[in-house]
Amino acid sequence: MIAAVMRQFKKPSGWVGKRLVGPFLNVFHAPLHELYLDTIDVQTENKILEIGFGTGRLLARMAALAKRAVVSGVDYSEDMLQEAQRRNRDLIAQNRMELRLGDLARLDYPDACFDTVCTANTVYYWPDPVNNVREMARVLRPGGKLVVAFRTTAFARFRHAQLGFTWYSVTQVKAILAEAGLVHIESRQRPLIRPPCCVVVARKAVA
Ligand SMILES: C[S@@+](CC[C@H](N)C(=O)[O-])C[C@H]1O[C@@H](n2cnc3c(N)ncnc32)[C@H](O)[C@@H]1O
Repeated sequence: MIAAVMRQFKKPSGWVGKRLVGPFLNVFHAPLHELYLDTIDVQTENKILEIGFGTGRLLARMAALAKRAVVSGVDYSEDMLQEAQRRNRDLIAQNRMELRLGDLARLDYPDACFDTVCTANTVYYWPDPVNNVREMARVLRPGGKLVVAFRTTAFARFRHAQLGFTWYSVTQVKAILAEAGLVHIESRQRPLIRPPCCVVVARKAVA
């Protein structure tokens, strides 16, 4: 039962993913999502990529915050892609949003094409963390911003490898970003919220 629930968090699918898991995550992670959007600072950005967009609700909020922003998204769940497309059909029709099916391990975008790359609640599932961050940094312009939001003790009891979930501390995520070559690494936390919310933000070095 726990394994089935964790699989849905990792890759929401079917009616359960669209109608139960996606909306549940939006409510459960609401405090983290506020910190995440605040850190992205959407108003000043014009090309944003969100990885693991789930229902696409945060992409809609980013588009609403910055009328001139073009927001892109990648998720490897076909059902989440369908749900996000349904939710954002007007923005997609206006060419203000583009969504793709894809894996964060290999992003189907050219080098240095985004001002910001951001992701919420996916770090637990990164298959090869340092190389996955290198791939995110590849599509980021020099000086661009990487924003990674996560719960620091969420599901800690269920972090067994067979459930496909790894729990990270703030220090560990910062170390992954540093090893991948990112600079100016900082974190913002809401430690009193349970489970604690954390956003790590870093920059791609300017050569
Ligand atoms: C726990 S949900 C989080 C959804 C949303 N970001 C949020 O914070 O509510 C994880 C999302 O990341 C996606 N995901 C997980 N691993 C991925 C990968 N390797 N490549 C692309 N998407 C991935 C899943 O399909 C799912 O939509």
